[in-house]
Parts: sequence; C-alpha cells; structure tokens
Amino acid sequence: QTDIPAIRDVVTEFPVGAAITAAETVGAHGQLLARHFSSVTPGNALKWDATEPTENTFRFTDADPLIAYAKAHGMAVRGHTLLWHNQTPAWVFTDPAGAPMTATAADKELLLARLSNHIRTVAAHYGTDIGVWDVVNEVIDESQPDGLRRSPWYTITGLDYIRTAFRVAREAAPHAKLFINDYNTNVPAKRDALFNLVAELRAEGVPIDGVGHQMHINVDWPSVAETEAMIRTFQPLGVEQQITEMDVSIYRANDESFPAPPADRLLRQAAVYRDMVALFRRYAGDITSVTVWGLADDNTWLDTFPVTRKDAPLLFDTALQAKEAYWGVIGRSSPS
Ligand code: G3I
Repeated sequence: QTDIPAIRDVVTEFPVGAAITAAETVGAHGQLLARHFSSVTPGNALKWDATEPTENTFRFTDADPLIAYAKAHGMAVRGHTLLWHNQTPAWVFTDPAGAPMTATAADKELLLARLSNHIRTVAAHYGTDIGVWDVVNEVIDESQPDGLRRSPWYTITGLDYIRTAFRVAREAAPHAKLFINDYNTNVPAKRDALFNLVAELRAEGVPIDGVGHQMHINVDWPSVAETEAMIRTFQPLGVEQQITEMDVSIYRANDESFPAPPADRLLRQAAVYRDMVALFRRYAGDITSVTVWGLADDNTWLDTFPVTRKDAPLLFDTALQAKEAYWGVIGRSSPS
C-alpha cells in the first residue's frame, strides 16, 4: 500500500517508532517499516542475554544489522535495555563459587562491577548510533512499601544498581538521553512510586533524562483522562517522556479468545489509537517519541501473553495491510 499516507509524514511532532526483529528489516516488512516509521527499537537484540551471554564475551550479531538498517534509513534508535531482571543470564547474579549472590559487600561490589562493564561496553560499541537508552527497565513494584521491585538487582545492591547504571551510561554515552522505563505507569500507585523514585534520584544528581511509559493497553483501558494525568504527573520534574512500547490488545479479559478479530473491537482499537496519539501530540513538548511494540499483527508478544491466543494489537494486520488502527494514528476515518 503506497497510496496511503506515511505515518512519519503525518505525525511530525516526534519520532514514531516500532519494535523490531531482524526479520522485520527485510522484504515487505522492511519496506513497510521504512515507509511509515522514523525510529526503531530492537525488541530483544540489545538485552543482556543477547549482548553478553557469558561473562565479558560480548555479542552484537543480533543488534548490529538492526542498527545498520536504522542508520541506512535515517531512523532514530531507542536502545532497549541496559538493565532488566528478565532476559539476564544467570551468571550475572552468581558468585565466583557458583552460589547465588546475596547482600554481602563482596557480592554487591562484584555485581556493580559486572553492571558497569556491561553498560560501558555495550554503550561504547554503538556510540552515537543510539540516541536514547532505556537504562533500567521495570524497577517499580508498587505493592512494596518503598515501591521498589525485589529483583536480584535490588536485593543484592539496594538502589545502588540504578545509581550506577545511570552514572556509567552517562559516562559511556554522554550524547544519549537516559531513560527509566516501566509499564502501567498510568496506574496512580505505580505512577506515583515511579515519580518519587525519579525525583529522589535526580535530586541526588543521578542523570535520569526521561521517563518511558510502555503503554501496553487494551481496547477498554486506560482512559484518555488517566493517560493525560500520567503525563501531567511527571511535568514538574522537567523530564522528557516517551511512549516506548504501545500496543492495544483487542482482549478485555484473560478468558476471551476470538478466531478472528471482531470488527467492533478493531473499531474500538482504532478510536483508542486515535485518541491516545492525539493526546501525545497535544503534549509534544513533554512527549518526545512514540513507539509501537511491533510492526504488524503477524509478530506480537501478546500472542503468547497472558495466555496463548491470537491477538491483533498493532497498526498493520497479519498481511501487512493498514488496519483501522492505522487510520486512528493518521487521525482520519478509513476511506473504505
Ligand atoms: O531466542 C529464543 C529462540 O532461540 C527460541 O527458539 C524461542 C522459542 O520460544 O524463544 C526465543 O526467545 C524468546 C524471545 O522473546 C525472542 O523471540 C523468548 O522465549 C521470549 O520469552 C521472548 O519474549 C520477549 C519478552 O520481552 C521477554 O520478556 C518478547 O519477544 C519481547 O517483545 C518482550 O518485550 C518486553 C519488553 O522488553 C519490556 N516490556 C514488556 C515487553 C513485553 O513483554
């Protein structure tokens, strides 16, 4: 479909991105990607298990072709992610004797040294080709009294892993915008826990430039008003905000499953994309990028999460044709 507007020509306030795999940079997928998007996020290729599978053995074979593709097409790159608790190899949290690390001074020192080495090496490898890094991902757990996720990172180092990650990332990639990224940041308890953490760390001088809102949402939730409240909450911090992983599930409950996406859900989904993207554009001074978590419905993590069923959360269908959701982003009704 070359007769429809390119998203990147219509939404010009900020880069519009898609999360991708290597397979989505070639053939019809690659053409669709280059035509509509001005930014990419490697969906898995920059995670620790891909880039440092064993200690100090770095591997850039997954991500290098994606970054080269982005460069060749003049697209921005969001680097995702330097630190997470998932997709992190077990050796990272294992002490030299082969036992799980604990909150001892020696284990903490070793873990922070591994973290520094990882961030220095990965960030240096890409230099200015990556302009934005998700430095830490999903560190909030609003059910904890202090709002901090009890990952091995936290139980071994307290908050120091976050301080170290941002400081080392700043040294290794001084040009890059450094983000803290999380999901459900529209939920008031989680939003406020994230706000408090960012406020506290920035007051200490930890170089956090931005807050990433993943926005894994569905056709019913959240409302535009809640999403606007989310954006407004972070304004007093003076940080950038990016929508980093948006998708809109057609399902409203775990026990639903459709053989094919129902037309009414696809229309509802289009309205959600329309209203949310319009909101982000209104807040373009705060929102500096919007990324959808996948190119087309033929490849979405929601096909296996929270249960296995075919979902259709993106802007293009399994045949790479523009959906009503695409027209929602464009801000016009579909011509058909
Ligand atoms: O690489 C192996 C492959 O060798 C194997 O054959 C295949 C069989 O299952 O699995 C492959 O690994 C999968 C990997 O994606 C690459 O496709 C993992 O099983 C699978 O768990 C992994 O899922 C990723 C998920 O993060 C892991 O937590 C999704 O693709 C990725 O989209 C998703 O992204 C996260 C963001 O990073 C953070 N926010 C939430 C978002 C959605 O979960």
